Amino acid sequence: MKENFIPERAVIREIIIENEQIRTFRLELLDKTHPFTFLPGQFLMLSVPHCGEAAISISSSPTALPLINLSIRKAGELTAAVHTMQPGAQVGIRGPFGKPFPVNSFSGRSLLFVAGGIGLAPLKGVIDYCLFQQELEEDSVQDITLLYGSRMPSDIGFRQTIKKWQEQGVTCRLIVDIADEEWQGAVGLVTDLLDMCTVTEKTTALVCGPPIMIRFVIARLSAMGCADDAIITTLERHMKCGMGICGHCHLDGKLVCVDGPVFNLAQLKTMDVMELG
Ligand SMILES: Cc1cc2nc3c(=O)[nH]c(=O)nc-3n(C[C@H](O)[C@H](O)[C@H](O)COP(=O)(O)OP(=O)(O)OC[C@H]3O[C@@H](n4cnc5c(N)ncnc54)[C@H](O)[C@@H]3O)c2cc1C
Ligand code: FES
Repeated sequence: MKENFIPERAVIREIIIENEQIRTFRLELLDKTHPFTFLPGQFLMLSVPHCGEAAISISSSPTALPLINLSIRKAGELTAAVHTMQPGAQVGIRGPFGKPFPVNSFSGRSLLFVAGGIGLAPLKGVIDYCLFQQELEEDSVQDITLLYGSRMPSDIGFRQTIKKWQEQGVTCRLIVDIADEEWQGAVGLVTDLLDMCTVTEKTTALVCGPPIMIRFVIARLSAMGCADDAIITTLERHMKCGMGICGHCHLDGKLVCVDGPVFNLAQLKTMDVMELG
């Protein structure tokens, strides 16, 4: 991308309706003269005319470029405006920003993903990236497990993706807080699914979801013996510039947009992070 200050135009090529609240927008940059690349865990500043900008994680793998996926939950003005858009419409994007997940250190590791709701979005690109490497038999991970919690069965997002991952050998366990008449699966909190898992010195856990979920999952993983530098999460702070200038995302001496958003537990323990305290 040319300049991280100036949004570049991207066209919406496809829209996947993940559930009532979440849509995945498959974007393509219009100007192809400047190379664009990223690593899973990085985010973009998405802009919509008259609505401003919002930070959104890239939910696809760089191996899927030139398409860039953004999975967006309808939250406020900007995200609601994006949800009204159709394929062919254009948005602005700046980035990529932030530190990615350390995907190049995952070779031989047993990856345990723990996600709640839209928290699967930043982890999705990591899973796709690792599966791509596995197919090439390059720097392959040992195995991949996903634990995914949703409030209700109708809130489960990314169903097509989860089905595809299962076909590719990923162990996927789903749980809902509240069942409906048709739900045959597990009911409870995503932490309950950790009872079915074992943690070894080869485990790396990647956690993303609401702050309260992150807090309980991290505590549980620690109690199960997962090392601090092998528990990795991604934090959300309200962002303006996305690139270390404005200070909006300040958190105990760090700027989440440049020092994070991806942090391991060893790093978080040096910071005063309320939701993990
Ligand atoms: C690194 C990063 C990655 C993200 N990735 C994704 C993603 O992949 N998908 C996704 O859907 N969302 C993601 N988000 C969240 C997204 O940026 C916010 O939800 C954004 O505020 C939505 O913009 P909006 O205009 O639609 O909603 P807003 O009008 O900003 O409102 C959304 C919610 O945020 C609250 N809010 C607004 N301003 C503030 C403030 N200053 N401080 C605290 N709370 C405030 C509002 O009360 C409301 O509940 C990410 C955020 C970060 C920091
Ligand atoms: S968003 Fe401006 S410094 Fe992080």
